[in-house]
Amino acid sequence: MQKPDYKMMLEQLKALVSQDPNYVTALSSAAALLWESLEDINWAGFYLVRGEILAVGPYQGKVACIHIPRGKGVCGTAWAKNEIQLVPDVHAFPGHIACDSASNSEIVLPILNNGAVAAVMDIDSPSFSRFSEEDRDGLAQLCDHLSRTLIW
Ligand code: SME
Repeated sequence: MQKPDYKMMLEQLKALVSQDPNYVTALSSAAALLWESLEDINWAGFYLVRGEILAVGPYQGKVACIHIPRGKGVCGTAWAKNEIQLVPDVHAFPGHIACDSASNSEIVLPILNNGAVAAVMDIDSPSFSRFSEEDRDGLAQLCDHLSRTLIW
């Protein structure tokens, strides 16, 4: 597997968001950027905080769960704890929500608006332990940029 160039991805993301920072527009482009830049993934996109649930937002991949309650699954846990979740084996994660049975590992990162979680970035892989610390750091930089620039 070729290593993703997170520096280039950040530059591309910055260029996309600067054209239109509206969250629907920018996250749609961000989902497509993740999808075309990362190998060995089967879902890449965003869930958006709406009251006490996460509602599915822009994504690439198979049709997925529409709503996820706060604190449930990997996404709901990342939201409730405001913490990145790097899960090498989703089947070992308590309460994991299986939207696509092909998924075996997953990474979820919070995106903030004024200090509160407003969305999460979610990427799934059919391979176990697909996501490394390098992926975590690179994706965290993308999410930091989104947290600072999106207009909700
Ligand atoms: N597996 C996630 C649900 C979302 S899908 O992976 C697209 C979870 O447990 O939160």
